Amino acid sequence: MKKNIAVLASGKGSNAKNICAFFQKSEIVSVKLICSNKKNSLLKSFSNEIGANYYFLDNTSTCFFDGFINYAQTLNIDFIVLAGFLLKVPKELIELYNGNIINIHPSLLPKYGGKGMYGMNIHNLVIKNKEKYSGITIHFVNEEYDSGAIIFQHNYELKKNETAESLAKEIQKIEHSFFPKIILETIKKAL
Ligand code: GRF
Repeated sequence: MKKNIAVLASGKGSNAKNICAFFQKSEIVSVKLICSNKKNSLLKSFSNEIGANYYFLDNTSTCFFDGFINYAQTLNIDFIVLAGFLLKVPKELIELYNGNIINIHPSLLPKYGGKGMYGMNIHNLVIKNKEKYSGITIHFVNEEYDSGAIIFQHNYELKKNETAESLAKEIQKIEHSFFPKIILETIKKAL
C-alpha cells in the first residue's frame, strides 16, 4: 500500500512543489497533505491544482497543532516532511510519528543550526565567516531545533566571488536534486 506523506512549509514552497512533482507518479509515496503557516500561501492553490489536501496552520491560536494532528490522522498520514518549515514541532507530534519526521536544513549541521538559523541568516553568516564549504543536511526531527540524527549531507565548495544570494541559489539547487530521493529512501527504510 502507498505511504501517505504530509509536507509542511513556511516559505515560498519550492521544495514542497519539487517533492510533489517527484512523487506525482510514484507507486510508493503519495503527497496527501500540504500545510503552511502563512495565511496567503500560494501552496493553497497549488494543492488544489494537484489534488492534494491543504491545511493552514494558524499559529496565532493556542494549541494550533492539535487541529493538524487530527487532520493528519484522518488522512492516514504515515510520514511528515518539513520543507522550509520554521515552527517548532511539538513533542506530541514527534511521539505520535515515532520519529518519522524529517527536515531539510541549508547548512552542514551542526554548523549554523539552532534557533534563528534559517534562510539568508545562514548564508550571510557563511559568507561573513569566509567558510570554504557549505551544503545541506537532511535529518530526523527531535524536540530541539536542527539536532536530530543526520540522514544525509551534501557539501558545496564556495566559489571565489560567492555572495549570500548566489550561495542561496546553489543550495536550493542541491536541495531540489537530493531531498525527494532521500525522502523516498528514508520512507522505504522506516515504514
Ligand atoms: C530551504 O532552503 C530550506 O532548507 C530552508 O528554507 C528554505 C525553504 O525554501 N529551511 P522553499 O520554501 O522550499 O522555497
